Amino acid sequence: QVETPHQLLTHGLIENVLRPRSRFSHKGTFGHALLVGGSYGKMGAITMSAHAALRAGLGLLTVQVPTTGYTILQTAVPEAMVLTDAHEQHLSQFPEDLSKYQCLGIGPGLGQAEDSRLAMESLFRQKLPPLILDADALNLLASDRLLRQNLPANSILTPHPKEFERLTGPATDDFHRLQLLQSFCAEHDCYVILKGAHTCIGTPTEEFFFNTTGNPGMATGGTGDVLTGILTALRAQGYSPLETCQLGVYLHGLAGDIAAEVEGEASLIASDLYKYLGAAFRKIH
Ligand code: APR
Ligand code: MG
Repeated sequence: QVETPHQLLTHGLIENVLRPRSRFSHKGTFGHALLVGGSYGKMGAITMSAHAALRAGLGLLTVQVPTTGYTILQTAVPEAMVLTDAHEQHLSQFPEDLSKYQCLGIGPGLGQAEDSRLAMESLFRQKLPPLILDADALNLLASDRLLRQNLPANSILTPHPKEFERLTGPATDDFHRLQLLQSFCAEHDCYVILKGAHTCIGTPTEEFFFNTTGNPGMATGGTGDVLTGILTALRAQGYSPLETCQLGVYLHGLAGDIAAEVEGEASLIASDLYKYLGAAFRKIH
């Protein structure tokens, strides 16, 4: 077997990535992000992504949800602006003007309606802000070759192992899975955060990184949705794709470690991750 040139995401690496907020900054300094997701019965996922994005230093947040989600979002996340899709229960169209957003995060609670797949296809024909793709956005990508062919360069994908397998086919062992990760990132010129107990970041240059934070308390519904919010916020603030992956994954795990210390691993729930995200930021600097 060949040597795999990996690095660890350590405190020392991350403290050089995190940038301080300038004394004279204003909300325009920290980007405007758009999150798209939610469907009937899955509004919690996009709600948690929204909370997480706001706790990750973002300037402005807009969330697009199907009409069924309007009151839910406006009530649960008063800091966010809300756009509604024409469809009541799922995504059928993206907003026309995306030029004001510095990052677009798609997927939490999205569902896999045919309308949503077509909306993604027409989205990928446009000039787009940086993309974060998660959950059902990845499942749509896996089921649609046209989407994979048109995936914008430098996109960040955040599959769990099952979603990753849908994208690349099955791996025979962990080493093979890393090879699949490297070849997928190189082929599509993208960054893939392969999530799990040892989350691994794959890059287009074949360089890859293992996270050192996080704990089994995070094995609970919705923790991935929180990561999507964090990444969307960091990318909108101007962090490069690699910096976004490194900082986002490390902070997400660190918030989980602080949450486990305070609440206990068994009681940890996904919303604890954005509750303790501020404490995680403070531990880095
Ligand atoms: N140790 C450390 N981190 C862990 C562990 C562990 N043992 N288990 C899970 N995690 C972390 C992962 O690294 C990842 O960041 O928790 C997160 C789990 O993310 P997901 O697998 O995406 O789970 P979830 O947020 O519940 O997904 C919500 O979206 O992906 C779809 O269909 C999926 O229903 C699911 C929904
Ligand atoms: Mg998930």
